[in-house]
Amino acid sequence: MALGATAELLPANAYRIRAGDARDLKRLHQLLFNASQPEYIAVAGGLEQARALGPVVNLLQALLRGSQTFVCEAHSGIVGMIETREGGRDVRHTLVPLWRAAWRLLHTYGVSRLPGIVRRMQLRARLEFAAVPGAYHLTQLAVDPQVRGRGMGAALLRHAEADARRRGFRRISLTTGSANPACKLFEREGFRIVAQRSDAEFTRLTASAGRFLMTKELYG
Ligand SMILES: CC(C)(COP(=O)(O)OP(=O)(O)OC[C@H]1O[C@@H](n2cnc3c(N)ncnc32)[C@H](O)[C@@H]1OP(=O)(O)O)[C@@H](O)C(=O)NCCC(=O)NCCS
Repeated sequence: MALGATAELLPANAYRIRAGDARDLKRLHQLLFNASQPEYIAVAGGLEQARALGPVVNLLQALLRGSQTFVCEAHSGIVGMIETREGGRDVRHTLVPLWRAAWRLLHTYGVSRLPGIVRRMQLRARLEFAAVPGAYHLTQLAVDPQVRGRGMGAALLRHAEADARRRGFRRISLTTGSANPACKLFEREGFRIVAQRSDAEFTRLTASAGRFLMTKELYG
């Protein structure tokens, strides 16, 4: 169903949320990078580049931090995912060697355009927040555009929250672009903006005012 159409919440028995693993990787990359955010497309230098670069950035981030992914599976297959920084089981893609990422970068941009993408990635990095101490951090959230607006995003957020509580965390954090309509969903789920970062050059590049750090306290 297209976003904006009248959508009903999917009943809980129409999908299940489970831990993702290496077999899900291809589908997860489709979910994350086929419908990338405008901010991300601007940094990548275009839609095609965003699709090609996405998995590289994702792999690099995963390599650096380790992560756990939960996937939402409906009868049609995986329709949503949430990635968290804390968790017991790393998905296998944390083991993909760096040289593959470097090769993809070179293949996508060629030698002449490498300095440009490096510069834009540095620009994006300026807007990054320091990790919130002791927080369970949400690094990615995506739902298939065909089934958005039917409660899947909220269900994934609640699943991650339950995981955080089970592990004894008292706070969850995430970062997002200030223009991302997902902010409304996060606020509805109890997240509050605790810090903002902006940069004139970044705004010129992406038309986004900046980025938010949002947290949710888990008391009781
Ligand atoms: C954010 C996202 C995961 C939400 O998934 P979802 O299954 O549609 O979420 P839900 O059905 O539980 O909630 C829908 C709510 O999300 C918000 N929302 C998120 N993105 C939206 C968009 N592009 N347009 C309109 N509303 C959006 C709205 O508040 C909406 O509720 P409302 O229509 O009643 O106001 C999904 O839109 C997505 O994959 N977006 C692209 C990736 C992304 O931005 N991820 C977050 C990065 S921090």
